[in-house]
Amino acid sequence: MSTIQKRKITVVGAGYVGATCAHLCAMKNLASEIVLIDVLEGRPQGIALDMNQSGAVEGFGATVIGTNDPKDTHGSDLVIVTAGLPRKPGMSRSDLLATNAKIILSVADYVRHGSPEAHVIVVTNPLDSMVHLFRARSGFPGARVTGMAGVLDSARFSWFIAEATKSGVQDVKAMVLGAHGDSMVPLPGYCVVNGVGIKDLLDKPTIAAMEKRTRGGGAEIVNLLKTGSAWYAPASSSVAMAKSILNDEKRLLPCACFLNGQYGFEGLYMGVPAILGKNGVERIIEVPLDLDSRAQMQKTAGAILQDVELMREMKLL
Ligand code: 2OP
Repeated sequence: MSTIQKRKITVVGAGYVGATCAHLCAMKNLASEIVLIDVLEGRPQGIALDMNQSGAVEGFGATVIGTNDPKDTHGSDLVIVTAGLPRKPGMSRSDLLATNAKIILSVADYVRHGSPEAHVIVVTNPLDSMVHLFRARSGFPGARVTGMAGVLDSARFSWFIAEATKSGVQDVKAMVLGAHGDSMVPLPGYCVVNGVGIKDLLDKPTIAAMEKRTRGGGAEIVNLLKTGSAWYAPASSSVAMAKSILNDEKRLLPCACFLNGQYGFEGLYMGVPAILGKNGVERIIEVPLDLDSRAQMQKTAGAILQDVELMREMKLL
């Protein structure tokens, strides 16, 4: 039987992403207490009750608490923020900015007050600006506030590579950097199937088509679902980051990190490869990029800056 650490994780937002995160955290024995908080009355409580009953079957050791009261989140070691409206078909992630920013501000206030030592993983869209806003409002060091996007975008690319090469997805490692939006930067040169570069397995047009599909990976699911957006891969990606931090796994995962000059950017959140361990973002890895990828990184930074500027105009920053 695996032992369970006396630790507390809060998941903010009891939508599909939040609920799946909470369940994965419980199933992976990441904490003894998992708090699921939402503004909707009854929803987090109902989900928590259902989840605790699943624990009787699965045998996990965590207790899940559903609540509407921020006080119940106090003393969290790690907070995953999923609260916010999802996209509707035809919307870009940036269209959600004004609405979701208000939510992020209120969450940052109670996390700063009640869980001042917590690590924070922001999932809410538009991801790069919401993680920027959370750090600015909380005053937390950048190393303790990261955004989930690169793991998800890389997972999508990995799946397309697995399909195209007819190989097991567990052997595929892909890398996508930059913003969590249409300007994201897939790096085929850093994608391998058990060590074999995809450039040796697939032709250029196939790789280019997969890059395009990866950029639109979230929208493809939004369009299929018609209401709501993806949740399984976003939740798995968020929990992989949480696990690496809490268990000090020091995994190299692409995620939105606060840049201090890396890749030529200062004071900006952007998707880059990072080592995640008990100190949060322990190291940002600067991988060599070809000219085309460097140009794409400039473009993606421009898209993020546009949203940051918009938040300044709205006096949110
Ligand atoms: C996605 O790409 C929700 O942004 C998330 O599916």
